[in-house]
Formats: sequence, C-alpha cells, structure tokens
Amino acid sequence: MQKIGFIGWRGMVGSVLLERMRSEDDFAHIVEPVFFSTSNAGGKAPDIDRELPPLGDAYDIDALAELDAIVSCQGGDYTQEVFSRLRDSGWNGYWIDAASSLRMQDDAVIVLDPVNRDVIDRAIEAGQKNFIGGNCTVSLMLMALGGLFKAGMVEWVTAMTYQAASGAGARNMRELIGQMGAIRDGVSGELSDPASAILEIDRKVAADMRSVEFPTAEFGAPLAGSLLPWIDTQLENGQSREEWKAQVEANKILQTAAPIPVDGTCVRIGAMRCHSQAFTVKLKKDLPMADIDQLIGAANEWVSVVPNDREATLQSLTPTAVTGKLDIPVGRLRKLSMGPEYLNAFTVGDQLLWGAAEPLRRILLILLG
Ligand code: HSE
Repeated sequence: MQKIGFIGWRGMVGSVLLERMRSEDDFAHIVEPVFFSTSNAGGKAPDIDRELPPLGDAYDIDALAELDAIVSCQGGDYTQEVFSRLRDSGWNGYWIDAASSLRMQDDAVIVLDPVNRDVIDRAIEAGQKNFIGGNCTVSLMLMALGGLFKAGMVEWVTAMTYQAASGAGARNMRELIGQMGAIRDGVSGELSDPASAILEIDRKVAADMRSVEFPTAEFGAPLAGSLLPWIDTQLENGQSREEWKAQVEANKILQTAAPIPVDGTCVRIGAMRCHSQAFTVKLKKDLPMADIDQLIGAANEWVSVVPNDREATLQSLTPTAVTGKLDIPVGRLRKLSMGPEYLNAFTVGDQLLWGAAEPLRRILLILLG
C-alpha cells in the first residue's frame, strides 16, 4: 500500500487520531499520506514533519479512487454521500471509518483488534475491504470485559452507562462547560459568603437551570448539575439507538455463534471525554473471584483490575483519572446478592481513544502489514 488518504482529520476524533499517529510515528510506515478537506481543498496539509501536497477535495471521486486506503473521521453523512459512489466507480481500496453508517453491513468488519484480531485477520484473508470502528461504549465494554467473553463465561450483560459530553461532539463539550459556568456565575455572590443559606443557593441554581436563558442549544436540556437518560434517537421497541447498538455490535465484533444478550440504559453525564459503565454480568457458572480477576486483567495490555476498595476506586476508577489515557481500569468487582453467578463490575475508558481513534490507527497499521 502506497497512498493513504485522510479525511476529517481536523475534527475532534480526527485530531485525536492525528495526535496518536504522530506520537507513535505511524506516518513512518506510510509511503504517501494525502490529506483531504470537505471545505478547504487547496489549503495547507497538517504538520507531520514531511513535505505534503495541498489538501485534496474530499468529494473528488477520481482523486479518492487513486488511493489504496482511506481513513475517514468525517462522520456518517460524508460516508453516506461518498462511499457508494466511490465503490460504484470500481474502487477496491480499504475504507476505514469511525462512523456508524456502514458498521452493520455484511461486508463491514467492526474493528477492535485487541478483542477481535482473529476476526480481522480472517476478513483480510477473505479480501474484505471495509473496516469500521465500533460504537464507543461497545468498544470500551469489550476492552474491559473481553476476557470473560473470550472465555465463554458470559450468559448476558446489562450495561448502565455514564457517557461523557465528547460522545455527542465538540460543541457539546463546550456547552457542558458553559452550563457549569452559568450555574456558578448565577450564585457567585452567595458562594463567597459562608453565611449564605444553601437552600437559597439551591433554589437559585434550579431556577437558572430551568430558565430559557440557560445554554442548551446542543444537548437540548441542562446536563451540568443533572443527567440525560437518553442518547441518540428513539426506536420503536423503547430502546434508544445507543442501547440497541450494544448487543448487535458486541456480537458482531465477537462473531458469536449465538447472540449474547446485552442491554441496559445509556445515560449522558457531565464528564468531558470518559465513558463509564456499570455492568451486571450473568456468568455461565460460579467462577471464583480470583479466576475472574485473572480472565479480565490478562485479556489485553491496557485493561487492569482495580481492587474493590474505596481508596483504590476513587484513585483509579474515575473519568478524571483516566482521561487522555489508553488505560481501561475495571473495578467494583464483586458477586451480587442475587447469587454467585451475578458479577458486578465498573469500568472507565476514554471514548476518544479506544472508543474512536485508536482502533482506526491500529487497523491501518495491520493493513499496512
Ligand atoms: N454514541 C456515542 C455517544 C459516541 O453519544 O456517547 C461514540 O460512539
């Protein structure tokens, strides 16, 4: 493979991807990187310590058709607009994408190589060309619990999620901070007076959050100081689309022979870029805790077991501790009072890294050989 095209590299996921590729020196493996833009063709390519041609036009099918592989972080609308036209033109290169548009198609592989390298290798061998990153919560769940799934120990899982603002986009992250600031600004006088009444502060905060002036253009509701128990669109069966993805994508990533039920409630909370998840896992048998720790902790090089004690949990199992890192801590591991086959677990992961950019740079390296 010689020519690799990058599209959507300026957005949030694309910027994280570029940052990771620069810091891991991935461009050393790429003979000819070509950067494209949907809005600034002819503009300056990003700095990767190499002479690069000006930005190409991301809608120019002929230019795209010259590439051996395309890595797109531009989003689903772009994929929908360009992918079929490009394939219809006869292009047979690799399409690597973070958007959900192609994920569930039969000819697409959902990539998460620390979990499904076998599936990826078989797909490459079979000549498949579309390699798509999974939904962030699903990828983070499988990075965390992959050891239990691989050992065939999971009968079903519920995942109750605590999803960060970044999953909704860059503008949402800004709005979250704006909401935090608006709450604080509304009571700054009272806060600086230690004698002020907390219930009066609380009343003002609630009134501010409910006022039409409170900044909610992106989320559609206050998130700071609150939470939003619905992510993505509404399906007819009562699930949100985010909840629907858990089972279908997890089973597709793992290529399970019979689908393992995965379901729960997806909730947006006021974290910046780490998604957390609380799991109840119904095990197929009563495994000792030591075996569970071993299966989970040895599954890949990023997952680690956090001892189920208060200090270690507050130290290592929070969005603040994990943000910006590839670490996948799993803690709160204990058997639930429902019985010895019911396991409690909690994990935190950076949704811009393992949830978005990291599987893409890794599949590119795998395809580059
Ligand atoms: N759908 C996810 C979220 C984003 O809204 O948090 C990553 O797949």
